[in-house]
Amino acid sequence: MPRRVLAKVRRLVAGRKAIVVLLIGIAASMVGLGLFGTTMIFTSTEAFCATNCHEMANNSTMEYRDTIHDKNRTGVRAICPDCHVPHAPVPLYIAKMGALNDLWSHHVTHSVDTREKFVAQRPKMAGRVWAYMKGNDSRECRHCHNEASMDPEKQSAIAQARHAKGRKEKMTCVDCHFGISHEVPLGGPGPQEMEVDKAFIPRSAIF
Ligand code: HEC
Ligand code: HEC
Ligand code: HEC
Repeated sequence: MPRRVLAKVRRLVAGRKAIVVLLIGIAASMVGLGLFGTTMIFTSTEAFCATNCHEMANNSTMEYRDTIHDKNRTGVRAICPDCHVPHAPVPLYIAKMGALNDLWSHHVTHSVDTREKFVAQRPKMAGRVWAYMKGNDSRECRHCHNEASMDPEKQSAIAQARHAKGRKEKMTCVDCHFGISHEVPLGGPGPQEMEVDKAFIPRSAIF
């Protein structure tokens, strides 16, 4: 059977049909790439992340509204994917694969389809985000907040003091700035109490 298939392929490639096969292949790849790119872009829009499912719209999005990253003096915003989706291609694709889990939860297990369930699951969900951000040294925050460009002179006295302490004790942004976009979980360890062995996992390996 495989030999017969192979012979058929060889005939196709050798004959005049080869060019047709090649053209069909190129066209199919272009359509595939286009669909892939469109999916990547569409699933990183605010409309998709914030309002497309009731789990987010009724919880995370409502809580995020009117926080500093949604509405402020200058109108420069951070939307859901800015904090939750990596920017480099490989980490981005891996994160998108991980998000298939959310589809499973939405369509099959319904694990956070009511406010009660969402609040009950929050310590686990927030813990995952904290562990991820601690593991990559708050990489998504640093995409916008460049520590080297943060001028202590322009910060409040308390911010200056705490940032000096944070640097000395090798803390990361989310160790102190948690619950900035959503309600803080009731119960469970906070990010500072969580043990994430950063020395053990190289930063580049954490997507
Ligand atoms: C897309 C860019 C972007 C990302 C990503 C981002 N921020 Fe911000 N952040 C801003 C902007 C812009 C402001 C300032 C808004 C203003 O005051 O005009 C801000 C303000 C802040 C402030 C000051 C709050 C205040 O009350 O003055 C803190 C703290 C902060 N961000 C922490 C974080 C942390 C922690 C993360 C990661 C979890 C993060 N940011 C991710 C853009 C971003
Ligand atoms: C040790 C705790 C700690 C760490 C770590 C930390 N911060 Fe802060 N940060 C603070 C405190 C406390 C304030 C002051 C909050 C206030 O005035 O209400 C602050 C204030 C800020 C502000 C507002 C500055 C101002 O004067 O209005 C920004 C922006 C900010 N932090 C970003 C970051 C980013 C980005 C990181 C990671 C690179 C980070 N912080 C790490 C504790 C910390
Ligand atoms: C400025 C960064 C930032 C933005 C913008 C942001 N998040 Fe988050 N998100 C976090 C952090 C940090 C956590 C970890 C828990 C915490 O500290 O609140 C988190 C946690 C979550 C969780 C886990 C449940 C929970 O409440 O802890 C979900 C779900 C979530 N975010 C969805 C969203 C959605 C949807 C949006 C857009 C409407 C959004 N996030 C916007 C930083 C952000």
